[in-house]
This record gives sequence, C-alpha cells and structure tokens, in this order.
Amino acid sequence: MEGEQSHENHPPSMVAEGDDHHIITKKQGPTFCQFQGFWCRSSLVPNIISFQKHFQALDDDIIVASKPKAGTTWLKALVFTIVNRARFSLSNSPLNLTNPHKLIPYLEITVYGQDHIPDLTSIPSPRLFATHLPFAVLAESSIKQAKSRIVYVTRNPLDIIVSFWHFIRGIECPDWPLVECFEMFCRGEEGFGPFWDHALGYWKESSEKPHKVLFLKYEHLKENPIQQIKRIAEFIGFPFSVEEERAGAIEEIKTFCSFSNMKDLVGNMTGTMGRLHIQPKELFRKGEVGDHINYLSPSAIERFCKIVEEKLSGSGLAYDLPC
Ligand code: A3P
Repeated sequence: MEGEQSHENHPPSMVAEGDDHHIITKKQGPTFCQFQGFWCRSSLVPNIISFQKHFQALDDDIIVASKPKAGTTWLKALVFTIVNRARFSLSNSPLNLTNPHKLIPYLEITVYGQDHIPDLTSIPSPRLFATHLPFAVLAESSIKQAKSRIVYVTRNPLDIIVSFWHFIRGIECPDWPLVECFEMFCRGEEGFGPFWDHALGYWKESSEKPHKVLFLKYEHLKENPIQQIKRIAEFIGFPFSVEEERAGAIEEIKTFCSFSNMKDLVGNMTGTMGRLHIQPKELFRKGEVGDHINYLSPSAIERFCKIVEEKLSGSGLAYDLPC
C-alpha cells in the first residue's frame, strides 16, 4: 500500500480528554472527535444536539442516509428526480443547475448548521433531507416515532476508504498518506464511523422494520440500476405506473442520474459547498466498483476484510469482500 513503510515513523493519533468526548488529533488527516459512540468533526456536535432536540419529523419526510463516499450524491439525485418527476421534466430539473447536496440538505451539516433554529414547516411535502448520522444517533430524534422513511446506501468499505482518501486529499489535506487513512478506518475512527456500526445500525432497522428503512448497496445500483430505481420509487411512495415504465421513464432517470451525465452538469461543475468550500466536482471521481485494488496491497485488503468479517459476523449483512 502506498506509504505503508511510513506508518511506523508516524504514530497516527494522539488522544486527549474533552468534556463529553475525546479529541483525536492526526498529523496530516482530518480531525474527528468521538460523540454519542461515533466519530465526527467537533464542529458538528452542536448541530447534532440541536437537530435531536428540535427537528419535528413528518410522516411523509424522506431521509437519504449514508456513510460519506458510499454513493450519497447519486442516491440524492435519484430520490430527488423520482419524487419530482411530475413537477419537472429532466431538461428542466433543478439538478441541471444545482448540486444534489443543495437540493437534499444534510440535517446535521446544513439544516441545523445555522445560528438559529430553522423553520422547516413551509417546505412542501414530501420534505427531502439527508444524514450521515448512524441510526442510533438519528433515532434520538423524532424520526424514530414518525412514519418518515429512510433510504440508506452502503458500499464495499474498501472502495469507501479509497474514495474518502481521494476526497479529503482533494479538499483539505493534500499530503495525507493513504496508510493513515487506512489505519483510521481499521480503528473505526473515520468520520461517522466505525463503518461496521453505521452499516449494522441501518441493516438491523431495515430487517426489523422494512417499511422504515430501505437498505441499498452501491454495487447493486451499478449492476442493475433499473431494478434498484424501481425499488426506491416503490419504497418512498412514488411508484412508476405501467405507462411510465412502457414510456421508458425509469431508463431516462437512470441515464440522467448516471455518473457520466451528472459530473458534467453545470450545478456539479461550478460554485462551492459548505464551510470547507468544497467544489462539487470533488464528488465525482471515478464512480466504479472495486477501485481499491489499485491502491491497497493484498495484505492490507486481507487485514481489513478480517476486521469487517468479525464485526459483521452473525448479523446476516455481508459485502462482496475478497477474503
Ligand atoms: P469514487 O471516489 O470511488 O469515484 P458520496 O456521494 O457518498 O460522497 O460518494 C462519492 C462516490 O460516489 C465517488 O466514488 C463518486 O465518484 C461516486 N459517484 C458520484 N456520483 C455518482 C453517480 N451518479 N453514479 C455512480 N457513482 C457516483
């Protein structure tokens, strides 16, 4: 793995006590703190508390949930397009000019990231929100009681590691060694991690309450987008009619939301997003399955697979991992 030898010379972390959470400081990578059992940027902690306290979920809310780099941007584009297909033709879709993250904002980053409590009552129904929060943290809000639906996407964690590393290098830490990123994921200390807790939380809820959480995999979306788009549409209460199917509506949405089309839309080539002034183009890198093979050594892959296998054991959740 790139930079593997440098790991012993660079201890990856230093732990210090905080008030209600531990701060971990890394030499070159992003800084996360532990809060309510998971890892996140400390700047999000007040937002999460505010969200948990003030958000009033409605029964027809739709929440897109994911771990960063699992395919969130893609799923947001699909959900937005499915829900709004009667309002906007694809050529008039707001997605042509606006990044999916602006159209479906994160509860803990954007919606409750302001210095006042937002009034969300005038947003037309169904309201579309997103979150990277683990299910247990989300469940500390009114979402647990409401009939609102959650569409969750997960992805081969090895591809998430590589995607996350590229993303963080692109937006804030250009010299971050891959080995530090890899070790962080092995410890489960990445943003919104550990990976396995995140996936298992939504997996268990989807198994127990299939009407509440739809559990999707990035690889299945790539393999059979038509089938998965139909599943999403049915789950969120916007099924395709026979006439729509015959007229090729699903195929059109598939093509419109595809990596090759989305990456070149004006809304994804211009402007910046959020506090880190992220350029939307950073959200579109390769969009392929299995790219980890080009970055992680066989021994690193085997080591991570063993960790994941052990953490998921007995849950019924499995990834197509090479071990
Ligand atoms: P790669 O870095 O492997 O290319 P997220 O949206 O959760 O941040 O995930 C980003 C990953 O999804 C990136 O993966 C990105 O290229 C990929 N992606 C973005 N839009 C996509 C699309 N429409 N179809 C498939 N993959 C997409």
